[in-house]
Amino acid sequence: MISEDFTLITSTESDAVQRAQEIIRQNREYTLFSWSVQGGCNPLPITRAKGTCFWTADDKRYIDYCSQLMNVNIGHGHPKVIEAIKKQAEELAFVYPGAATVARGEAAEKLAEITPGELKKVFFTLGGADANENAMKMARLVTGRQKVMSRYRSYHGGTFGAMSAGGDPRRLANEPGVPWIVRMFDPYSYRSPLYRHCTPEEGDLALVDLIEEQIQMEGPDQIAAILLEGYSGSSGIIAPASKAYWKGIRRLCDKYGIMLIVDEVMSGFGRTGEWFGIDNYDVVPDMLVCAKGLTCGYVPLGAVVVSPQIADYFDSNTLWCGLTYSGHPLACAAASACIDVYKEENLIEKARVQGDKIKAHLDRMTQQHKCVGEQRGIGLFRVLELVKNRETKEPISGWNQPATEAMQKVAGHLKSKGFHTFVKWDWVFVVPPLCITDEEIEEGMSILDEALALADPYCD
Ligand SMILES: Cc1ncc(COP(=O)(O)O)c(C=O)c1O
Repeated sequence: MISEDFTLITSTESDAVQRAQEIIRQNREYTLFSWSVQGGCNPLPITRAKGTCFWTADDKRYIDYCSQLMNVNIGHGHPKVIEAIKKQAEELAFVYPGAATVARGEAAEKLAEITPGELKKVFFTLGGADANENAMKMARLVTGRQKVMSRYRSYHGGTFGAMSAGGDPRRLANEPGVPWIVRMFDPYSYRSPLYRHCTPEEGDLALVDLIEEQIQMEGPDQIAAILLEGYSGSSGIIAPASKAYWKGIRRLCDKYGIMLIVDEVMSGFGRTGEWFGIDNYDVVPDMLVCAKGLTCGYVPLGAVVVSPQIADYFDSNTLWCGLTYSGHPLACAAASACIDVYKEENLIEKARVQGDKIKAHLDRMTQQHKCVGEQRGIGLFRVLELVKNRETKEPISGWNQPATEAMQKVAGHLKSKGFHTFVKWDWVFVVPPLCITDEEIEEGMSILDEALALADPYCD
C-alpha cells in the first residue's frame, strides 16, 4: 500500500493504523470524554506503556511528560505493583468498607509514616475529589462551623462541593455551587498586583494580612477550614516566594480555630522532591488529602489523613462519611506496593536530582526564547508560562480562552514529536514520572526547545 506521502506502508503497519482508528471510533461512539465538546475529541488510542513512555495502537511512542494526569509518578507498568494487585485479587478482591483487612491496615500505616507531623488515621476514598469532599465534611463536623476558604487559582476535583471549592474556571458552568465557599487571592508573584511594588516575600506577608482581614469579615467563628493545594498544580504551579505565606496561614488557622486542609492530590508522593508539597514549607496541616501518586493510577484510590485531635473527636462522635469502596483491598494493596517502590528506588531524591537537570534546560530556554515569560516549579513539577511580550507579560494565549495560533503550533509540534504533556492557556507543563532517565530528559528538552522556537516569531 502507498500512503499519501508515497512512503511504502506494510500490511502490518496498515493493520495497526486501522486498529488505532477502530479504538478511537468505538470510544467516541460509546463513551463521553471529560471536560470536552464531544464532537471535537481526538483521543490517543493508547495500548501499552512502560516506565516513562507509552505507545498508541499504531506503535507511535510518546514520552509521558505529564505522567498521564500528573499521577503515574513511579512510571508505567511497574512489576512490583502489578504483582501486588494480582496477589490481592486472588486472595480477597473486595469486602464491605466496615471490615478490617490486611491491605487496608498496611497501606494506612505506611501512609501515616510518610505524612508530616503526627498525622496518622486514614479515611480511604476513591480519588481526589471525594477525598476533598470528605475532608471538608470532617472539618465542618469537628468545628461545627460551615465555611471553607480556598483559592481562586486552584483545583480540588470535579464533584459538586470540590468543584465549588476550586477556583478553576471549569466550575463556572455549574455555578452557583455550594454556598459556603469563600475564595482568596493567590501568591502569584509573577502577575498579582499585590506583588508589584514590593519584594516577593513582602508580597507573601501582605497577602497573609489580607487573608486575616478576609477571615474577620467572613466571621472567624463561621470558618471551618482553609483548603489549599500543598503545592499548586493544574492552576499553573504557582508557589509563594517564601515560607512566610504558609507559616502565616498556619498561624491564622491556630489563632481562629480553623482546620488547615492541605490537598496533596497532585503535589504529593515525591513530585516536588519531598514526600508532600507542604514538606517544602515545614508546616503540618490538620488534614492531608492525597490520591493520584498514592497508587499512581494502577487502581483508583484517595485518602484523607487526619491529626490525632480530629481522630480523637471521631472516637466519640459519628464520622458521617462513607463510600462502598472505602478501603478497597486492591487499591490498598497497590498503595502499599507503590510506597515501597518510592522508597526502594529512592524516587523522592531522584525527583530532586532529575528536576534540577530539567530546570537547567528550562533556565537556558528562558534565556534563549523570547516567548518564555517565566519558568517555575520545583522537583519534577514544572511549568513554562509563555508571553507575547516579556515586559508587559501579555499572555501568549489568554486564561480560559481557546488556544491561539502560537500555542497551537507549540502543542502540535510537541504531539507530533511524541512529547506528551498539557498545554493549557499560556502554560506548558513539564511533569514527567520520577523515574525519568537522563536520555529521556535530553530527548524531551530538545523537542521542547524546537516547539518554543515556533512561538518566538509571535512575540514582540
Ligand atoms: C490538587 C487536586 N486535587 C484534587 C483533584 C481531583 O482528583 P480526582 O480527579 O482523582 O478526583 C485533582 C485532580 O487533578 C487535583 O489536581
